[in-house]
Amino acid sequence: TAAMSDTDTDEGVRRRDWIHIAALSTAGVGAASVLIPLVSQMAPSADVLAASSTEVDVGAIQPGQSIKTTFRKQPLFVKRLTPEEIAEAKADDGANMRDPQTLAERTKEGNEDILVTMGVCTHLGCVPLGAAEGENKGEFGGYFCPCHGSHYDVAGRIRKGPAPLNLAVPEYSFKTDAVIRVG
Ligand code: FES
Repeated sequence: TAAMSDTDTDEGVRRRDWIHIAALSTAGVGAASVLIPLVSQMAPSADVLAASSTEVDVGAIQPGQSIKTTFRKQPLFVKRLTPEEIAEAKADDGANMRDPQTLAERTKEGNEDILVTMGVCTHLGCVPLGAAEGENKGEFGGYFCPCHGSHYDVAGRIRKGPAPLNLAVPEYSFKTDAVIRVG
């Protein structure tokens, strides 16, 4: 009888341990799922940095249209600016902006209509919305970060809010007139 009760006790302990471990594991998975995207944005691992380049068919993007893809596991925006947006971006040379840059400096090879930026807010890494998205649709040009309200202009330059820098422009080049290679 004593042996039975020991066994019962042991099983009771094991069950409690199991429940405890299960609870910890769930918390661990929850924390990891929050941390991994942040860590991957802040400190990309060597294999992520070495990942192959991304090609984007810009010939298929219409003026005013923006596509969202990924580059090295992070959001990438590729937009073809309209003539009006180009004029708007060029009307301000950015000299008085927080992170001074002209449209020409943010685009490549004289293709001022093709804007390629990371879709990662420079404040804390949220994904900004394009002008045609979200509840602020139509109220602004450029990009709006829904997390803390940073507002980037049509060239992805920071205008307002807590973000310190313009949306980052990754390394890219024109493989042909219609295709860019990012990375
Ligand atoms: Fe974009 Fe804070 S993460 S404003």
